[in-house]
Amino acid sequence: MSEPINQIIVEQIDALLFNETNTITNLSNASALLKSEVTDINWAGFYLYNEHQDELALGPFQGNVACMHIKNGTGVCGTSFKEDQILRVKNVHEFPGHIACDSASNSEIVLPLTVNGQKIGVLDIDSPTINRFDAEDEAVLANFRDALVKHIDSSILSALN
Ligand code: SME
Repeated sequence: MSEPINQIIVEQIDALLFNETNTITNLSNASALLKSEVTDINWAGFYLYNEHQDELALGPFQGNVACMHIKNGTGVCGTSFKEDQILRVKNVHEFPGHIACDSASNSEIVLPLTVNGQKIGVLDIDSPTINRFDAEDEAVLANFRDALVKHIDSSILSALN
C-alpha cells in the first residue's frame, strides 16, 4: 500500500551525506534511501547527462536492470530533462513515448537535477500502482532533490563524456 512520502527523507539525506563529497557514493545512497523509505515503488535512481551523445546514461539506482541510454527529449525522463520540469505521470502507458524498462511500472515521477546552473540529469521513481504520486509527494521529493543536489559535483559528468 502507498503511504504519503514522509518529509523526514529530506533530513535523512542531508544527515546521510554530511561531509561526503563523492558524487557516485552520494547518488548510490540516495537511491537506496528512497527505495527503503518510500512505500510502493519498484525503482528509484538516476540518469546522468552525456552532452556529447545528447542522452541520459543510467546512473546509480535500486531496482531491476533498466535501459542504459535515453535520448534527450524522449520518454518521461528525457522529456523532464529537456523541458527542465518535474513530470508526475499517473499512468505511464498513456504517456506518449514512455520507455518501458520494468513491466511492473505503472506510474512514475521524474525530477530534473541542476547543479550550479548546469542540468546534470534526473531522479526517476517508478511505482507499480497507478497514480502513486500526488502533489504532496511531489513537493517532498522536490525538497529531497534540492537537499541532494548540494551534495553533488557536476564534474561527475566528465566521466560520461
Ligand atoms: N520509464 C522511463 C525510463 C526509465 S525506467 O523507468 C527506469 C522513461 O520513460 O523515461
